[in-house]
Amino acid sequence: MFKRTHHCGELRLSDKDQRVTLAGWVNNYRDHGGVIFIDLRDREGITQLTFHPEHQQTHDLADTLRHEDVIAVRGVVLERFGPDGKPAHNPKHATGEIEVDCDELEILNKAATPPFVPDEAHKVGEDRRLKYRFIDLRQRRMQQILHTRHRVAKIMRDFFDEQGFYEVETPFLCRSTPEGARDFLVPARLYPGSFYALPQSPQLFKQILMVSGIEKYVQIVRCFRDEDPRADRQAEFTQLDLEMSFVDQDDVIETCEAMMRQIWKEILDVDVPPIRRMTYAEAMDRYGSDRPDLRFGMELIDITDTAGQTDFKVFRSAIEAGGVVKAIRVPGGAAMTRKQTDALAEWVKDFGAGGLPIVKIEASKLATGIAKFLEPVTSSLLEKTGAQDGDLLCFGVDARPAVVHRVLGELRVKLAHDLDMIGPDQWEWLWVIDFPLVEWNEDGKRWDSLHHPFTAPTDEDLDKLESDTAAVKSKAYDLVLNGSELGGGSIRIHRPDVQQRVFALLGIDEEQARGKFGFLLDALQFGAPPHGGIAFGLDRIVMHLCHTTNIRDVIAFPKTQNGFDLMTEAPSPVDQMQLTELSLRVQTHAKKDKAV
Ligand code: AMO
Repeated sequence: MFKRTHHCGELRLSDKDQRVTLAGWVNNYRDHGGVIFIDLRDREGITQLTFHPEHQQTHDLADTLRHEDVIAVRGVVLERFGPDGKPAHNPKHATGEIEVDCDELEILNKAATPPFVPDEAHKVGEDRRLKYRFIDLRQRRMQQILHTRHRVAKIMRDFFDEQGFYEVETPFLCRSTPEGARDFLVPARLYPGSFYALPQSPQLFKQILMVSGIEKYVQIVRCFRDEDPRADRQAEFTQLDLEMSFVDQDDVIETCEAMMRQIWKEILDVDVPPIRRMTYAEAMDRYGSDRPDLRFGMELIDITDTAGQTDFKVFRSAIEAGGVVKAIRVPGGAAMTRKQTDALAEWVKDFGAGGLPIVKIEASKLATGIAKFLEPVTSSLLEKTGAQDGDLLCFGVDARPAVVHRVLGELRVKLAHDLDMIGPDQWEWLWVIDFPLVEWNEDGKRWDSLHHPFTAPTDEDLDKLESDTAAVKSKAYDLVLNGSELGGGSIRIHRPDVQQRVFALLGIDEEQARGKFGFLLDALQFGAPPHGGIAFGLDRIVMHLCHTTNIRDVIAFPKTQNGFDLMTEAPSPVDQMQLTELSLRVQTHAKKDKAV
């Protein structure tokens, strides 16, 4: 095989007359009156090759080349000239000034006709791309994404190395401990009937590492959660996970902010300003979400007082039941048709709303929707919402404020996208702090952790743990970028008595706590330093940096929405021998759609 001297993105006019060897894939081929032109592609770029009839044998071989054949060539670097004899540089490629006039060709691998070519991958369905991922990943865009992902991981590792963190690996075969999502289980051959669980995160191990005196831990680690994938969620994903001893919330926040600043600077040359902080209460109140998107306005405005003065039954009954009425002002939204606003009213039902009352502002008056009910309070409504002619007001109303927040929180994001209100290259960073420790789960009639059971309550709220549970705040913090949760963490409980009290609050009695978390409670008894940390979704960080909203774009070998790997066809049934070894018997084979 010819050994290559250059890669396909390298040669310039300054290399003119050099004899070079290149290798790569046939990206394109065409025959212009006897001269064969090949675009040769490798990871670094594309170089134009020419084959002239005077090198007959090579020319004849070149004539057989088709898409995705793998070849090596030797030839001389020439400046590109057009048929008119003038220089004809192609500004689309970095190598566009030159071409390589080839006199030797070796076909390293003849490709079968590919199901699609990399340049046209965007024209085929995602299922096909995932099935033939080896071709899909040849796209320039996909290679750039994988490169960016590599660079981000390297920046992270270098950053934490400089700060004195150790990267420590933690087990994948773990004990099943409830952390929120469903576990993936692995049958243990040596312990029939027992199972390992794949880690949802290394949470407890990193806390144990703090008790072990490691002081600063970091890991880029795969996590597994058996939950339905979404646009920004995979069952198997990667975290940047870290933990620090003898620190408070500010220490963790400042460390991570510095890391993000470095990543955005190095990858995008974007400066991240000091990141503002907002309490959970304010985020819910103003944006109806604990991960507010601050790239656009449409804040939630409390109009309960004004709504209470109307005769609109829907408003009145919700308020009488202790609820709230909030509005969002949609600039220019009055232009929406009846069909469009009806569709919104249908859409919000998925988030628990009974409907979506609206009014439009036309000639300083309220029009359509529930205008006739609100007429008497027009001026107060316009004043409170700042609504002007051409605007649309959408109302969230429910006896449960949480429903109002959810509905309007989701609606403002949808409207901002639908109405194209988000400009390109906007980066709105936010730390959300002061989360409640727990939230009431009405279905289960119990308190659930807002983060996880190891999150510390604030010192001032410790006394209220049992007496005023709903009001207890935690030392938890989330990092939000453009409405997406990049990471979440907390200062942890490091005293066994407090941990026991929090377990009790969550309905985990002493015996259960011993059974599930005995090792943690033990560890906390034998010299646990105060500690805290955070984990970021590496996939999500790369999604932002690569401007994609599809998590599958940033993972080399992702699963479909239904958790299926279309290339290797996993999961698959296993043979009886394997099952017998594991003491397992399969009851039914359920068929599931495997598509994206
Ligand atoms: P949490 O569960 O919030 O915290 O996860 C941290 C971050 O991981 C990312 N993430 C995901 N990314 C893709 N697909 C998923 N299914 C998925 N689930 C989570 C998100 C999220 O913010 N042990 C704690 C961290 C800590 O307290 O230190 C934890 O795992 O970006």
